[in-house]
Amino acid sequence: MLVSAKDMMDKARDGKYAVGQFNINNLEWTKAILNTAQKLNSPVILGVSGGAGKYMTGFKVVADMVKAMDESLGITVPVALHLDHGTYDQCYDCIKAGFTSIMFDGSHFPIEENLAKTKELVAVAHKLGLSIEAEVGAIGGEEDGVIGRGECADPQECKTIADLGVDILAAGIGNIHGVYPANWEGLSFETLEAVKKAVGDMPLVLHGGTGIPDDQITKAISLGVAKINVNTECQLVFAEATRKYIEEGKDLKGKGFDPRKLLLPGYEAIMAKVEEKMNLFGSVNKA
Ligand code: G3H
Ligand code: ZN
Repeated sequence: MLVSAKDMMDKARDGKYAVGQFNINNLEWTKAILNTAQKLNSPVILGVSGGAGKYMTGFKVVADMVKAMDESLGITVPVALHLDHGTYDQCYDCIKAGFTSIMFDGSHFPIEENLAKTKELVAVAHKLGLSIEAEVGAIGGEEDGVIGRGECADPQECKTIADLGVDILAAGIGNIHGVYPANWEGLSFETLEAVKKAVGDMPLVLHGGTGIPDDQITKAISLGVAKINVNTECQLVFAEATRKYIEEGKDLKGKGFDPRKLLLPGYEAIMAKVEEKMNLFGSVNKA
């Protein structure tokens, strides 16, 4: 059932658990995540980055595929189709395409411009029944050469953005996209507590969920994180399972080269990873 992320976020915040956002790249990814959410009776958010949208030949194709698959599989748990780290233009493209939720990542704009654009998008999204996430404090990544810790958001800036009426807020608390470097200092819980104090009831988002130790995840949830984004970890297990299948020569036996067989181990690996995360985040049986 495709819905905005608003209700699931409010319930997660009140129930002290987090809903996983798992990014999708193709049909197998989407099917694996939807089937796992249904099996575990868990709400879920399907994240689509600009790059993944382009790879799947556009946001309209993605939205049509997700809607059709949601219906065909008989998915009854709440599913939000969410633009991940969207630009201003991509937000409008996804609204038109039929997404149920958007993220406007204006964190690289000067604060005034971020505020103006966020305000406009909040009004448009809410008029059409979509939820909207905003970001404060850039979340770095290995590819950006970030070493040590990601940027920590300014709690006052968080409050200013929260006051615009966004539904979910991503605040940088030392988290980084991709695999964490060995010298990563961990999440800044001081920042998280200060942000929570500044924004009150606003459900918070933890990006860069790949590889954060379980105890830090649990603590972040207890301090107000209601959505956790995981992408790289699903890619890693998919690649590992596919490599194993090929290295064992299974593609050379019988009809093992059939893409439906070749992609199956990766599909199952994503299901197992999503199940592990939903259990850790506490969203099982919360649909
Ligand atoms: O927006 C997407 C995420 O923050 C995913 O981060 O690839 O480090 O799991 P990750
Ligand atoms: Zn992210």
